[in-house]
Amino acid sequence: MTEGPGSLPMVVPTPDLPPKVRIHEVGARDGLQNEKGTVPTEVKAEFIHRLADAGLTTVEATSFVHPKWVPQLADAAELFPMLGDIEGVHLPVLVPNERGLERALGLGARRIAVFGSATETFASRNLNRTVQESLEMFEPVVARAKADKVHVRGYLSMCFGDPWEGPVPVHQVVRVAKALMDMGCDELSLGDTIGVATPGHVQNLLSALNEEGVPTDVIGVHFHDTYGQALSNTLAALQHGVTTVDASAGGLGGCPYAKSATGNLATEDLVWMLDGLGIETGVDLGKLTATSAWLAEQLGRPSPSRTVRALTSASQPQQEQ
Ligand code: HMG
Ligand code: MG
Repeated sequence: MTEGPGSLPMVVPTPDLPPKVRIHEVGARDGLQNEKGTVPTEVKAEFIHRLADAGLTTVEATSFVHPKWVPQLADAAELFPMLGDIEGVHLPVLVPNERGLERALGLGARRIAVFGSATETFASRNLNRTVQESLEMFEPVVARAKADKVHVRGYLSMCFGDPWEGPVPVHQVVRVAKALMDMGCDELSLGDTIGVATPGHVQNLLSALNEEGVPTDVIGVHFHDTYGQALSNTLAALQHGVTTVDASAGGLGGCPYAKSATGNLATEDLVWMLDGLGIETGVDLGKLTATSAWLAEQLGRPSPSRTVRALTSASQPQQEQ
């Protein structure tokens, strides 16, 4: 770690922003699902434990999807029991259907996420279903989870643009978002899967959702950083009152079924900004950065996070030529 004035931002609180933000850490799921190689299960478990130790209270662990669709996470049934109960930390898992729910509940999962799409093309590529068929697939999953008092997050992908269909109309996103909430989801995560959103677009969508009765306090934002907009989009969401922000340690990530999806907003870059704004997250930036630097060593390439690179420039592995 770099010592001295560059290792923490100066704190300058800004009015009209939330005092506290909950970071929904997705590195172990969204990050590792997109790795070329498969990361050993023990390394994933250590990664998750280190993220929790760094102060992250929601650490998405893995996905109970078809193993052929996402081979990188095919070890979900081995990994999840290795995590145990981590005090004060939620370990949500992705579940697309009843088969996935059975597998997750059978291992003691208490938080799940279903994942829908605002566009037909991505629904078909990611879930082998139309948008309507995927909602029908989620309905019994959400109903059973709610009956078991399991917390349900509803992801919605392609909220701003789709690589095959182009810009996605706001009303189309609102329709599917409302369907997920009406089904009984406890929270909604708005996915900018390919990172094309800009701040005004983010605020438009949030306002449109509010107008249709989806309150800001159930909404999280999930930005990928393809066009370098993730932090400015996050600030726009915070200005709107959003207090749940998804991010991926080290900026790992993407989606295997949307090739133009690059890494998520890096958790370290987010924490640097939130620390500087005086917004509480409970995350220790030093421990988190050390964790991402350690994972980069395991993966054999430098972390894409600008903050990780700035704080650990001497100890990062070099990029392969
Ligand atoms: P399908 O081929 O239509 O499945 O896939 P099916 O329902 O026809 O079943 C076929 C076989 O798969 C059956 O076995 C099932 O039992 C089995 P058989 O009877 O033939 O022996 N099966 C399963 N096995 C284990 N676990 C399961 C499961 N389900 C069925 N859960 C399916 C449909 C939804 C399963 C498939 O499309 C799938 O697994 N998709 C997952 C894709 C994925 O994980 N994508 C990445 C996550 S989304 C994302 O990253 C975006 C996000 O980050 C937000 C953003 O950035 O926008 C969240
Ligand atoms: Mg994602």
